[in-house]
Amino acid sequence: MFAVCAIALLCLGSLSHSADPACEDLVRPLDQLDPAHLEGTWTVVAGSMTTPEYSEKFRTGDSASISFVNGTTFSRAFRSNDSCQYLNSNITLKGSSFDFHQYNITVTFLQTSCPDCLLLRFDNMSKEFQRMYLFSRRREVEQKEMDEFTAQAQCLNSLPPVVKDPTKPICPEQMSNDAETQPDEKTE
Ligand SMILES: *[C@@H]1O[C@H](CO)[C@@H](O)[C@H](O)[C@H]1NC(C)=O
Ligand SMILES: *[C@@H]1O[C@H](CO)[C@@H](O)[C@H](O)[C@H]1NC(C)=O
Ligand SMILES: *[C@@H]1O[C@H](CO)[C@@H](O)[C@H](O)[C@H]1NC(C)=O
Ligand SMILES: *[C@@H]1O[C@H](CO)[C@@H](O)[C@H](O)[C@H]1NC(C)=O
Ligand SMILES: *[C@@H]1O[C@H](CO)[C@@H](O)[C@H](O)[C@H]1NC(C)=O
Repeated sequence: MFAVCAIALLCLGSLSHSADPACEDLVRPLDQLDPAHLEGTWTVVAGSMTTPEYSEKFRTGDSASISFVNGTTFSRAFRSNDSCQYLNSNITLKGSSFDFHQYNITVTFLQTSCPDCLLLRFDNMSKEFQRMYLFSRRREVEQKEMDEFTAQAQCLNSLPPVVKDPTKPICPEQMSNDAETQPDEKTE
């Protein structure tokens, strides 16, 4: 009996995706992040979460889009039930990541072979993976790009991706004179 369990454990160990060297390549942070590349609007195409609760929450919304301004403002627009909710945060990019203080989350940009995508990994303050989102300038991506995202989720032992319906409308751009999006005042 003991021998069987020991072998089963060994087998599980060898199946652990995070130990797979291919996974190290698949979930590598971007080496460099050019804030200019982030400019403009990106729509979420798919997400992968570690808990069914988050998956369900992600599944229910109609659409979500994000935008970056000057590498210092991170805005989100969530559409559900024909209404839009906008959230803005001031961020400070540190290499390929930034801290999302309100939620105790660190967001890291990961490499992706999709040319017009952003892949965002969310970790909690213990640096443990929580969820990951694939954004694109397009509303849906090629099958091979989705396959890569699925493999990346597997590497992080995350749940299978939830793909958003590309036919659902997205929120219009937020009014740019919103007080919260005003650039930081210079403080010397
Ligand atoms: C969506 O909005 C409609 C009309 O405002 C409302 O009747 C319905 O309950 C809402 N559905 C959800 C899921 O909030
Ligand atoms: C963030 O972490 C602090 C300190 O651990 C805690 O007090 C706070 O409630 C956390 N905030 C959220 C949104 O989880
Ligand atoms: C981070 O997430 C892991 C697993 O999801 C959890 O066990 C841990 O308590 C979390 N840490 C914090 C600081 O929230
Ligand atoms: C862009 O960010 C830099 C600091 O990173 C700041 O000095 C500059 O004023 C910002 N420009 C705008 C238009 O917000
Ligand atoms: C962003 O920074 C500006 C200037 O410091 C501030 O007025 C604004 O309230 C901040 N926005 C958020 C969402 O924290």
